[in-house]
Amino acid sequence: MVKNRLRLICGNASRDLAEAVCRHLGQPLGRAEVTRFADGEIFVQIEENVRGVDVFIMQSTYPPAEHMMELLMLIDACRRASAGRITAVMPYFGYARADRKDQPRVSIAAKLCANLLVQTGADRVLTVDLHSPQIQGFFDIPLDHLYAAPVLMQYFTSLNMEDVVVVAPDAGGVKMGRAFAKRLGADLAIVDKRRTRADQAELMNVIGEVEGRNCLILDDLISTGGTICQAARELQRRGARRIIACASHGVFSGQAFQLLDEAPIDEVTVTNTLPLRAANPPSKVRVLDISKLLSKAILNIHHEESISSLFI
Ligand code: R5P
Repeated sequence: MVKNRLRLICGNASRDLAEAVCRHLGQPLGRAEVTRFADGEIFVQIEENVRGVDVFIMQSTYPPAEHMMELLMLIDACRRASAGRITAVMPYFGYARADRKDQPRVSIAAKLCANLLVQTGADRVLTVDLHSPQIQGFFDIPLDHLYAAPVLMQYFTSLNMEDVVVVAPDAGGVKMGRAFAKRLGADLAIVDKRRTRADQAELMNVIGEVEGRNCLILDDLISTGGTICQAARELQRRGARRIIACASHGVFSGQAFQLLDEAPIDEVTVTNTLPLRAANPPSKVRVLDISKLLSKAILNIHHEESISSLFI
C-alpha cells in the first residue's frame, strides 16, 4: 500500500488544469521540465526527488501525438527515478474513437495507447468519460473512470430550466443521454440518422417529443461540431424552443467554432478536460471547471478510498 507523499506533475497539454487541481490539493505543481531540443525532439526531466512518491502525471492526449509522447516520457522518467506508484491522469483520452476493427486493415489505436502506457510503467490510469467504456478492458492495470456528469448536472440544475428534453444526437449517445435525463428528471429524445439507400442523402428522424420544449443535446465530445449542429437544425425544424449543446470534452477541431456559432444553438457547454485551442471562441461557448472533481479523485486514490462516491 502506498502511503508516501503525493505529487502531481504534468506535460504541456494540461498545465492550466493541473495547476487548478494543485490549488485544490493545496500543494504546488511538481517540478518537471518538458521542453524541446532544437530539432523538435522532446526532453523530459523530473526536477525533484520522487523516490517512493505517489506520482500523478496529468496529460490529456489530444493532438498532436507529441502529447502522448510527453506523457510516456514523463512516466518513463518517474519510473527510472524510483517513484513509488505512477498514475497517468488523462482527463481526455485521445484516440478513443479507434476502439475496434470496424473496417479492414485499420489500427485499434486506443488499444495501442493502452499498451504503450502499461509497457512504459503506468501503474494506474484515471480518466474522464471514455468514448466507449469498454476501453477500460484494454488495460491490465486498474483504471478509474470518472464522469463529468456531476459537474454538468450541477450547472444545468442551477439554470432551473423547465420542460427539458435530453437529446442523444446519435444512437451511440442513448445510454449517456438516458442516465442524464433520469438524473435531471427530464424526458429523452433520440436523433436517428439513416440512409435507406447508399445513393440517398441522410434522413433524420427524431424519436421523442421536442416541439416547444427546451432541448439539451448531450454528447461525449464535440470535434468538428457536425453531429451536434445537424441535430440542432433538425430540432429547430421540429419546433424546439431553446437548444443547448453539451459535451464532456470540447475538442473543437477544424471549423467547429464557426459551425457552432452559425447553428441554431443558444449555448455550448463543455468541461475543461482539454484547453480551448482558439483565441476567440464564440461567446456561446461555456467551459465548466472539472478540477475539483479530479482533485477529489486523486486524493481518494492516494488514500485508497472509493472513487464511485464521486459519481453522484
Ligand atoms: C461519436 O460517436 C461521438 O460520440 C461524437 O458524436 C462525435 O465524435 C462528434 O464528432 P463531431 O463533432 O466531429 O461530429
